[in-house]
Amino acid sequence: MENPGIQAVRPLRIVMPGGSGQIGRMLAQFFQERGHYVTVLTRGPYTAPWQTVHWDGWQLGPWIETLEGADVCIHLSGRGIGCRYTARNRCELHDSRIGPTRVLHDAFAVLAHPPRLWMNASTAAIYRHVPQGTEFDRPMDEATGELGGNELLSPLRRAPAKWNWTVRLAKDWEAAFFRTETPRTRKIALRTSLVLSPSPGGVFGVLSNLVRAGLGGTQGNGRQYVSWIHEADYARALEFLIEHEEIEGPVNLAAPNPLPNREFMAALREAWDMPNGLPAPAPLMAIGMFFLRTEPELVLKSRRVVPGRLLDAGFEFEFPDWPEAAADLVRQWRARADL
Ligand SMILES: NC(=O)c1ccc[n+]([C@@H]2O[C@H](COP(=O)([O-])OP(=O)(O)OC[C@H]3O[C@@H](n4cnc5c(N)ncnc54)[C@H](OP(=O)(O)O)[C@@H]3O)[C@@H](O)[C@H]2O)c1
Repeated sequence: MENPGIQAVRPLRIVMPGGSGQIGRMLAQFFQERGHYVTVLTRGPYTAPWQTVHWDGWQLGPWIETLEGADVCIHLSGRGIGCRYTARNRCELHDSRIGPTRVLHDAFAVLAHPPRLWMNASTAAIYRHVPQGTEFDRPMDEATGELGGNELLSPLRRAPAKWNWTVRLAKDWEAAFFRTETPRTRKIALRTSLVLSPSPGGVFGVLSNLVRAGLGGTQGNGRQYVSWIHEADYARALEFLIEHEEIEGPVNLAAPNPLPNREFMAALREAWDMPNGLPAPAPLMAIGMFFLRTEPELVLKSRRVVPGRLLDAGFEFEFPDWPEAAADLVRQWRARADL
């Protein structure tokens, strides 16, 4: 691979297509605070303390100039997965990830000096369901992890069709990213677990609201693993990947200690000083999720994803364990909300 490398000693030019969402805003602030120049490509309008440039995510346009000579592209486009998987939503979930990935390939092909690193969002949901205490129960790293799709949930039951669909989406997304060779650009697929942030509007806020309303008990049978990462570690991990030029291909972005939902919810209750929480068994969960216009899979599928490549390369997590991460997120949430 012809890749002259990235000199992190000077400020970098970082371009983030789809960087106006939860992760993008957090990363833009993180990199800007470190003195780098951040540009977000958005279907906007959107104003921010960093440069924002319009794109439509579908066609080449003047926006490609932002990538000319830039150091890093972090592509984060994608309609939020928290919706019912209707035919229309499936189309949007698919097209909003794969369309912009394809047009970025078209852009990289015509650039005289393309970014030397392209990190593309992907998902830890690409791995198979691994419920605690079953024969399938083992950690999924990049080298030995098994991708999902029509997997056995028990000796007699296969994964539901909707679960297969999301795995297919994840595989198509990565295939669209890796399909075209980019000899001058190193590529990393960010297999991202739940990114937990104290900012309102994310998963941590939803779960915290349930806990504070006394509804934060075990979800489903509680044996499904939750793979998660504190947002501070997510940003530090991306900085690490920028600096480590030997790393390319899929990388799991997950804390090293995923845990079963029963323990995950108990630790979150403890962080909020809520000793009790009403449990939500799977049938109740399905009804609740229907009224919330989202899918039970998001909570009931077991993801035991571990960051094999990051750990092998020497990355140190600030928050490897959920109880400490939860306590920190609650502390930050309270400070922001003045609770
Ligand atoms: N948050 C997590 O825990 C998590 C976990 C696993 C994977 N991921 C993936 O990481 C990426 C970023 O996550 P996020 O939480 O920051 O997502 P987000 O808040 O939903 O933001 C994603 C961005 O995608 C753009 N977008 C939405 N619909 C689009 C469409 N139809 N066509 C083109 N662009 C569209 C939007 O930008 P504009 O409206 O400005 O164009 C939006 O700001 C996503 O691809 C997500 O699937 C996130």
